[in-house]
Amino acid sequence: MLIGIDAIEFYTPPYFLSLEDLAQARGTEKEHYTVGIGILGSAVVPPDQDIVVFAATAAEKVLRHIDKNDIDMVLFATESGVDQSKAAGLWVHSLLDLPARCRVIELKEACYSATPAIRMAMAMVHKNPKSKILVIASDHSRYGIKTPGEPTQGAAAVAMVIAANPRILAIEDEYGIYAKSAMDFWRPNYRSEALVQGKLSVDLYLAALIECWKQYEALTGIKFDSDFGAFCYHTPYPRLAEKGHKALSGHNGRVLNDEETRQQLGPFLRYVKQIGNTYTASMYVGLVSLLDNTESDLSGKRIGLYSYGSGSIGEYFSGIVQPGYQKMLSAKANEQMLNGREKLSVASYEEIFSYKHPQEDGEYHFPKSKGSMFRLEGMQDQMRIYVKS
Ligand code: HMG
Repeated sequence: MLIGIDAIEFYTPPYFLSLEDLAQARGTEKEHYTVGIGILGSAVVPPDQDIVVFAATAAEKVLRHIDKNDIDMVLFATESGVDQSKAAGLWVHSLLDLPARCRVIELKEACYSATPAIRMAMAMVHKNPKSKILVIASDHSRYGIKTPGEPTQGAAAVAMVIAANPRILAIEDEYGIYAKSAMDFWRPNYRSEALVQGKLSVDLYLAALIECWKQYEALTGIKFDSDFGAFCYHTPYPRLAEKGHKALSGHNGRVLNDEETRQQLGPFLRYVKQIGNTYTASMYVGLVSLLDNTESDLSGKRIGLYSYGSGSIGEYFSGIVQPGYQKMLSAKANEQMLNGREKLSVASYEEIFSYKHPQEDGEYHFPKSKGSMFRLEGMQDQMRIYVKS
């Protein structure tokens, strides 16, 4: 039985910061960010949006492809949780009016947890082929003003339906995994910005990629140079995905130059370049971008996927694109969502970045931002209030 991604949609907030503007404000050359990091713009999150709002908006779009009453589980992958106890997915469950007979949980392992969420969903579908599971990856990447990580911030959610006989990507059974405890990137419970040892994190990302690949290759016998139609990588910033692709290709005996690398990853990186790092969502935003922007027909082609989360764990796996997948895409709407965003000045971005939600009892209403389907309207006695706008 084929199991995998039956539908996939993403959402990113309606504001962005140009990294050319940020480079100027931070006194560095614009190419440092636009070429050396590879990001052109990063998503900025207004006070009335958060991971629940992104997730509900992406999920509302994905549920248009199925009967939402068939959803029997919601797996919400994030490292930007808004509550230490309540699963963020329960707000989404309520906003979207999902069935009461539905498991809802939250998963965490840095940028990695959407990948095991998919694997868990597949196991449930294997047991009950009628089951349809909503997997959501939603995150807001924050490092802090004037930190080296600042140009890699971003925000988005991806919502996927995992089901039998998937209409987009049938996920293959084998995978290579490499886990190793490390302090390359972390966020203690009392902080809203991540801490990072940047160079160490890059080294671990690349080392885990090769370890995962070696295991995947030994288990499957699949060849890097002949058996893939396209590649996806966790993308904290596009330049690292390109470095990873070059390293993997080199490991397999084919040295790629910059131009070849850019060509091979161009459709995959198109959206991420405009949004920035979105942690758990990042590779799956890239998958949507790849499917939306590849001109040739990918039907029947194998896609290789490298998922990585700091802390650290990597996984290499693959999926086969299903015939007719094009009918399931929203390429035009995605392009409109990105092109319709408002560009903010560096001063406005800094002001929004510094906004803190109240931590005391009382009634608070947050300023209404540009149109989104759902809002974090305010807080009442430390309870978050989400509404449909
Ligand atoms: P930095 O200070 O910008 O580093 O920090 P840099 O000065 O070495 O510059 C970066 C690149 O820009 C270099 O190229 C420069 O040469 C180049 P490289 O040596 O890497 O090939 N550059 C230029 N290129 C063209 N024209 C110019 C120019 N100037 C400089 N004029 C760093 C970079 C990534 C360390 C920082 O942004 C950071 O700390 N980011 C956050 C951590 C991160 O993204 N790590 C990635 C791996 S870990 C991961 O993926 C997990 C994660 O997503 C979290 C999770 O799992 O939850 C982060």
